[in-house]
Amino acid sequence: QTAAAPVNATASPVLPDAQTVTSVTHWTDRLFSFRVTRPASLRFRSGEFVMIGLMGDPDPKTGKVKPLLRAYSIASPSWDEELEFYSIKVQDGPLTSRLQHIKPGDQIILRPKPVGTLVHDALLPGKRLWFFATGTGFAPFASLLRDPQTFEDYDEIIMTHTCRDVAELAYGRQVIDSLRTDELLVELLGEENLSKLKYYPTTTRETSPKMGRITDLLRSGEAQRDLGVEAISPETDRAMVCGSMGLNTDLKEILEGFGLEEGANSDPKHYVVEKAFVG
Ligand code: A2P
Repeated sequence: QTAAAPVNATASPVLPDAQTVTSVTHWTDRLFSFRVTRPASLRFRSGEFVMIGLMGDPDPKTGKVKPLLRAYSIASPSWDEELEFYSIKVQDGPLTSRLQHIKPGDQIILRPKPVGTLVHDALLPGKRLWFFATGTGFAPFASLLRDPQTFEDYDEIIMTHTCRDVAELAYGRQVIDSLRTDELLVELLGEENLSKLKYYPTTTRETSPKMGRITDLLRSGEAQRDLGVEAISPETDRAMVCGSMGLNTDLKEILEGFGLEEGANSDPKHYVVEKAFVG
């Protein structure tokens, strides 16, 4: 390896799998979402994730630059002509300390190989579908909530989102609101179908109409009472979970307690889990 190529690469990096940023929204000082162009060949199932990122800093010894990539759920539905992502900003995070500064026209790297378990194919048919999210774990559900299959396959869909503060619910709330106000979405998903959706936002550190961790609200039965759900059972209920390690572990235990079993792409069952991106 000669030094010339890497030095050139740092001066004017030609990104592999480059996509162009089309818009950026900052929701709080910890959260932002952005949209990028979609590779013509990219097909994915709503709920899947891809690796995205930026070129890293040059290696001090070799001058070589390598891509810095992380798994991000695609937050846009599979029919959308662009791709949307929802991210935390970590001030000393290797990727998000830089990614949070992207602007329209900038390029990011996107590896067009979607994968993941938060997909309809990993669940057996059921009547009621629960989406459980904390923080940026809302992202895969932002995709699934805009997918007609979600409303065609179930009689009832319950979206729970637990965040520290009210402001951190804003991105999710905007997606939910768009299902009622965006004419294109209402037409695509169907007004009657959309009435199957119940939204259950909760906060843990700031006062709001519903406070508490979803795990505690389920254990006490308060969430079921609020939502008019008599019992959670493997006969009727399916669930997708996306949040912190703690949430995922606790919710698995709760769901298993109701008799639900964990599924996978190759072995569909009653619930599936994925870790929300954290750093
Ligand atoms: P809490 O404020 O009680 O920690 P974070 O911003 O740290 O990613 O957390 C997002 C939300 O997830 C917070 O409201 C947090 O509540 C909640 N949370 C964290 N751990 C768990 C858990 N094990 N079960 C349920 N909710 C959790």
